[in-house]
Amino acid sequence: MINLVPDAIASLKEWGIEGPFEYGLVLGTGLGPVAELIENPVIVPYAQLPGFPKGQVSGHSARVVAGSIGKSRVFAMQGRAHYYEHGDAAIMRTPVETMAALGIKNLILTNAAGSLLEDVPPGALALIGDHINLSGVNPLIGLTDDSRFVPMVDAYDPDMRQALRAAAAKAGIPLPEGIYHWFPGPSFETPAEIRASKLLGATLVGMSTVPEVILARRLGLRVAGISMVTNYGAGLFGGAPSHAETKSVAAEAGEKMKALLGGFFR
Ligand code: HPA
Repeated sequence: MINLVPDAIASLKEWGIEGPFEYGLVLGTGLGPVAELIENPVIVPYAQLPGFPKGQVSGHSARVVAGSIGKSRVFAMQGRAHYYEHGDAAIMRTPVETMAALGIKNLILTNAAGSLLEDVPPGALALIGDHINLSGVNPLIGLTDDSRFVPMVDAYDPDMRQALRAAAAKAGIPLPEGIYHWFPGPSFETPAEIRASKLLGATLVGMSTVPEVILARRLGLRVAGISMVTNYGAGLFGGAPSHAETKSVAAEAGEKMKALLGGFFR
């Protein structure tokens, strides 16, 4: 793979964006408005950045919003690319490596997800404590050096999780911790797959985030993941997920994510 990180860094510089940043923030479906927290934002469409994904999923913008929230410099990505767009699990490799090259040590990944627990209903937020990826797909397949053998214990950083829980408590937002089962998509799961997922110990399901976590852990970034629950998993408690539902619930509940992250950074 051609290394596009230097080109992306050079383009960002032309737009007036230079490191160091403390935090990277990836905003999933419907969660783009969280970037309104960013003060003095500099905005760059991904189309201007070599190796950044070209937006193709409705409900996602495709731009970088860089600036600060409180005392921290934050590099936010409004919208991400998914494995299911091109069958490339490493589609987010250049953005993740670019964030590392900008000095980012902490990466917060957000997504829309299905919930497998009745008491974590649509509209709730959940912290990702760990994940399950039994898909056979991994963004590091094809790398040849030992950096591919990434340890995945505490992949979701315990200190960041603690800090996010504290921010949630302060804001009065419930933040249960869940196990996120990655499905490659783009079709939603069948009810049988959801029952299997539940038996395996999952409490959240979704089609994003996990490849980014693996890419980021290879570079030693500290990672946190926060899901915005948009629906119950297929067949559970009446769950019959659709992209229209995902977009509309995420848009409504996005304010909660904004309040949580606003509190976290201040
Ligand atoms: N399954 C997979 N991905 C999702 C879901 C779901 O139920 N909801 C939002 N993204």
